[in-house]
Parts: sequence; C-alpha cells; structure tokens
Amino acid sequence: MGTWYFAGNVRQSRRVSLPQPPAPRPERHDTRLDRYVEQYADRTHTMQASAVRALFAVANRPEVVSLAGGMPNITDLPLNVVADSLQNLIMTEGTKAMQYGSGQGEPMIREQICEVMGLEGIVAHPDDVVVTCGSQQALDLVTRIFCNPGDVVIAEAPSYVGALTTFRSYQVEVVHVTMDDDGIRTDALAQAVTACRAAGKNPKFLYTIPNFSNPSGISQTADRRREVLQTCLDLDLLVVEDNPYGLLSLDAEPLPALRSMEDEQVLYLGSFSKTFAPGFRIGWALAPHAVREKLTLAQEAATLCPPVFSQYAVSSYLRDHDWQNQIVSFKDMYRARRDAMLEALEEYMPEGTTWTNPAGGFFVWVTMPEGLDSQSMLPRAVTDRVAYTPGTAFYADGLGSRNLRLSFCYPPPDRIREGVRRLAEVMRRELDLHHTFGLGTSPRHDGLTSGPGPEVS
Ligand SMILES: Cc1ncc(COP(=O)(O)O)c(C=O)c1O
Repeated sequence: MGTWYFAGNVRQSRRVSLPQPPAPRPERHDTRLDRYVEQYADRTHTMQASAVRALFAVANRPEVVSLAGGMPNITDLPLNVVADSLQNLIMTEGTKAMQYGSGQGEPMIREQICEVMGLEGIVAHPDDVVVTCGSQQALDLVTRIFCNPGDVVIAEAPSYVGALTTFRSYQVEVVHVTMDDDGIRTDALAQAVTACRAAGKNPKFLYTIPNFSNPSGISQTADRRREVLQTCLDLDLLVVEDNPYGLLSLDAEPLPALRSMEDEQVLYLGSFSKTFAPGFRIGWALAPHAVREKLTLAQEAATLCPPVFSQYAVSSYLRDHDWQNQIVSFKDMYRARRDAMLEALEEYMPEGTTWTNPAGGFFVWVTMPEGLDSQSMLPRAVTDRVAYTPGTAFYADGLGSRNLRLSFCYPPPDRIREGVRRLAEVMRRELDLHHTFGLGTSPRHDGLTSGPGPEVS
C-alpha cells in the first residue's frame, strides 16, 4: 500500500496529491451496444453482414445439402505429397520461408505464376506480377489504388459477391451491365460508361469474370472477348479480368484470357485457390508496369509482404508435384458434379424455371418462375434441408430476387441430386402458395424482380 493513502496522517513524509475522483462520464442517451458507433469512418457504414449469414450457419449442418457455398473440394489433393513437400521446405529453406519477404512477392513464385498464366495464352514478365493474399486481396488493392469515394465501377450483372463487398467498402458506386449467353453486352457497356461520364461520374474500370463466372456460370465467347476489349479500348476504360476458374474448363480447352489479347488495358487477377487450395491464400495481379508499382506500394501498406511461407509452399507444390495432372483429376470430379446437377435440374425443376449451362467453374444460375422470391424462400428451403445463395447477393442494386446460385463444387453427385430434388419441392410449394394467395415476390418499384442476367435453360 503506498504512503499517499496516509496523506494528512502522522506518517505523512512528503506532500503528495490525492487522486481526484474520476470526472463523471458524459451521460449517454442512446441504447446502442457499440460505444464506438460515432467514431467509425464513413466507409464502415457501407459494410454489412449478409442478411443470410445466420441461416448459413444452419445450412452447414450435415443434414442440410448445401448448394450455397463456393468451397473447392480439395479432398482429392495428395496430402502425403504436400506434407513431404512442406517438411522438406522447412528443413531446407525454413529460415527464408518463415522470414519477411518482398512486398511484390517472392521472385521464384512470380516466375511460376507466369508459367501458369501461359496455359491461358498470357505472355508476361515476373516483374509485372504482384503476389496477393488470394485474389480477394488483389481486388481490394486494385480498388484502393484506383477508386475515390463516389467513383464508379462498371460490373457485369450478376457479379461476384466478394467484389461487390470490396467496392462497397471503398464507397464506390457499382453500375451493372447486363449479360446475354455470350457474356457481357457491349452495347450496354458503352451506354453505361457514356451515361456515367455525361452525369459527371468517373467510371474507373470494368470488372468482369470472362470464364465460368461466379455466380452465373456464363463464359464470354472468343468473339465477345474481342468486342469487350475493343469497346474498352474505344472508351479508354481499364478492364479488371478476374479469372480464378479459367483452368477449370470442363468441356473444352480454355479460351484465351483477355490479358492474352491486350496487355496495357487489362489488369488480370489469378488465384491458386481453385487449382490447388484456398488455405494458402495465394493469388496475384498482373498489371501494366506503372500500375504494378502502385499495387506493390499498396500491398506494403496493407501487409508489408504477402505470406512468405505460403508462397514457398505453393511454389514447392508446383515444382515437386504434377499439378497439371492434379487439375485434370479435379476437373473429372467437378464434371461429374456439374452433370449431376444439370440432370437433376432437368428432372425435378418446376415448369417455368430456367438455368445456365456452365462449361466449367463451380456454379449454375437459376431463374425461378414468376412470383417466387429466393430470399424469402430460403428459410423454408433450409427447413427442408437444402441451401442455396439468393440471387440478390450478386447485384448491387437489389435485383436478382427471382434468381439463385447453386454450387456443384462441394457435395458429391448423389447429394447434389437430392439437394436439387428438395429445392424443387420447396419451389413447388411456394408456387402453390403463390397461386392460392398471391404471396411471394414483393416487386421492386420498377417491377423488375429478376436480374437482367441470362435466362437460358
Ligand atoms: C470470381 C472470384 N474472384 C475472386 C475470388 C477470391 O478468391 P481467392 O481470394 O481465394 O483467391 C473468388 C472466390 O470464390 C471468386 O469466385
């Protein structure tokens, strides 16, 4: 016990000041639980937890067939090979692999990334590659270096939900452009950019997933790729090509990447998440030289350097293992699942339902009959032990309520069939209710409830 407790007593030996009672806290008039609510930056106001997150916790229970998530099925990976390779890595290069590294990424993996991109016709120099923490971080860095609050990103509709989340977190306005069965519509693209500019807005880039898009499963045809590029060149609009699924082509050889046809106008994003494993969190950006410099600075500000151990791990997997053959066996497995899903849709779906026919990737995009609402239907589907992702997640503007995304990547074929059967039953019951009571979709004020995405069966 310190002497100050005895101040003023016999034992007082030196003058010390008594602690003042704490100043009364300003009275709080709100009942909010988060005391920092007034302190957050404006950009956090646009960050929202998904409305269906809680349901997805239930959807992960074993009795539910989840056609919702996009997790790659990595059970076929040769874990013994990976384990040997990691052990060898630690024993031989551990002190380098567990050290800080280059902000741009380690030279050896940037070289290997160029070889991987070569499979899709891209000729690139390792100097122009920036390694990132998954392509998700590449999306973040690209948005960070290009977009001020209020800027516009043009995005095909429907679009990858993770990209929309990133754009929102930078207070970027997303202007959607419709697709048809061949990919993004170039007339709509030109109109959107011209209208933005006429309104004094600044569209910074086009965000597109030319191969087996998440969520639509649509791929741009070779002709459409050329048209998209030409339109962007004419408009002087940068293209951000997001291509995590390109090597997972299930029916034919992959089409050339946009970046293989044009290098200065295209910023390319790639990932090892679907061709190896997402847990290493290694993706990359291939950017025009000056942009690459800014990306590296942004990467250094964000993380100092991308995870070095993961880069070494992926690099030794690519070096020591027949990774291309591994992709062939992944493709065989995904093809069986894709086919199971398409057959089940054909067999079970109620009349008036349409869906895309993906030639690769993980996803099928379903358009339900008029009157059904994928968001309000989800709790009833989960009760019936099947889950999907409602279409509204993939639009920045509230469209997509008649759509849903089904993933065929994770459950085995028999579970996929069962999941689609259960879903079809739920839809039939909703349709009965709709016919009896007129329940279901609450139409948007403009009467549009289905996204402008493709409606092919
Ligand atoms: C289109 C698209 N882009 C980017 C990502 C992010 O992938 P990762 O960060 O694992 O590389 C995903 C993940 O599902 C995706 O579907």
